[in-house]
Amino acid sequence: MNNSVFVRRRAQLIATLQPDSVALIRAATEQTRSRDTEYPFRQHSDFWYYSGFNEPDALLILSNRADFPAAQLLCREKDPAQEVWHGRRLGPQAASETLQLHATALSEQESVLYQALNGSSAVYLNLAEQTDLLQQVIGQMQLLKQREKRGDSAPSQLIDLAQLSAEQRLIKDDNEIAIMRQAGQISAQAHIRAMQYCRPGRFEYQLEAEILHHFALNGARYPAYNSIVGSGNNGCILHYTDNSSAMAAGDLVLIDAGCELQGYAADISRTFPVSGKFSDEQGALYQLVLDAQYAACNAVKPGSDFAAVTAAAEQVLTEGLLGLGILQGELSQLLADKACKQYFIHGIGHWLGLDVHDVGAYKVQQPKQHKGEQAFVPGMVLTIEPGLYIPAGSPTEPRWWDLAVRIEDNLLVTADGHENLTAAVPKEMNAIEQLMAMANARD
Ligand code: GLY
Ligand code: MN
Ligand code: MN
Repeated sequence: MNNSVFVRRRAQLIATLQPDSVALIRAATEQTRSRDTEYPFRQHSDFWYYSGFNEPDALLILSNRADFPAAQLLCREKDPAQEVWHGRRLGPQAASETLQLHATALSEQESVLYQALNGSSAVYLNLAEQTDLLQQVIGQMQLLKQREKRGDSAPSQLIDLAQLSAEQRLIKDDNEIAIMRQAGQISAQAHIRAMQYCRPGRFEYQLEAEILHHFALNGARYPAYNSIVGSGNNGCILHYTDNSSAMAAGDLVLIDAGCELQGYAADISRTFPVSGKFSDEQGALYQLVLDAQYAACNAVKPGSDFAAVTAAAEQVLTEGLLGLGILQGELSQLLADKACKQYFIHGIGHWLGLDVHDVGAYKVQQPKQHKGEQAFVPGMVLTIEPGLYIPAGSPTEPRWWDLAVRIEDNLLVTADGHENLTAAVPKEMNAIEQLMAMANARD
């Protein structure tokens, strides 16, 4: 990615800091998987957003102080003996040039941090996520307090950086939109591939393998989250990731999977029949979720908000469940009671970005006319994902039992509405059936 993007983001954050302040952002650390092997490294999202540097064990210090660099990176030094075992390191010298900031060795962390805090009016850091750093800062602040007689001074304010970075990350810049558009396309094609590969008797993890294969072949080495492939009643488990069952003819399979591309998540759900043809009950429930998804998507435009989108989906779901006899009673009462929540057990969607459940407030204090809801503005990216889950034993006719449907797309809010970044994967029933029939015909 072009480095000017990160320089611009840093400048934007620095401009919002109180005078004479520093902001501290720590890189992620490697996590042990077992004994001496690690999980694949994933950079901390804020650290990546402001640095574009993908190594562990680093600290980014941003400042608006006249006597301190605007952006300073502390990173691991070059070490040929370590690098031959564990991989290349950029090192402070190359980091300065490549990342366009002042870079020094991580071994200087204690003294650099002390200098950064000494004389600053406020220090910003992510208080909830960066607790080790917080402890270190508190220790240094205590030391500064003890040395006030010799002229040192501790910051008088410790401020949560999370809110500032979240506000900035909530509105995607052109660079992010381009990446997310591509992540949506790769993920959409992966879902198509899973539909084409699906046959009764194959295992859920084999569909997962098709999806991961497609991600990696197209430049997205990892998924953004553990893929969910739930057939039959496994679909009723929202975060089912065992993916261990053989898929049975006559069942639906619910897939929730998206790739991570240059740090950015896609998040798509599709539900389709294992043997390629929806039964009457499956079709009725599926069409209802699809209608609700269209209604919710249509409500995504500037000035709208998650409450409006939720209301649009709940109206359709409640009317439909009443029509199918799954809910009984008066429509107005069922709507008032939010009766559909018995089967629609999660929210309508969430912000999407570097984190799959991305940062950004859902409620705000202002402006009052939005009743506390965060109003959509161009550049926001969110998911729309209504679902219905009817586990066995639910108070309905047994013919509905064990059915689960979720349909999820990723929408960019634009000046005149929205762009569906994941539209390429079919969701109309006849389009899915056609796609699967063509794949089956090739057997
Ligand atoms: N894949 C997680 C979600 O849909 O929110
Ligand atoms: Mn999802
Ligand atoms: Mn989602």
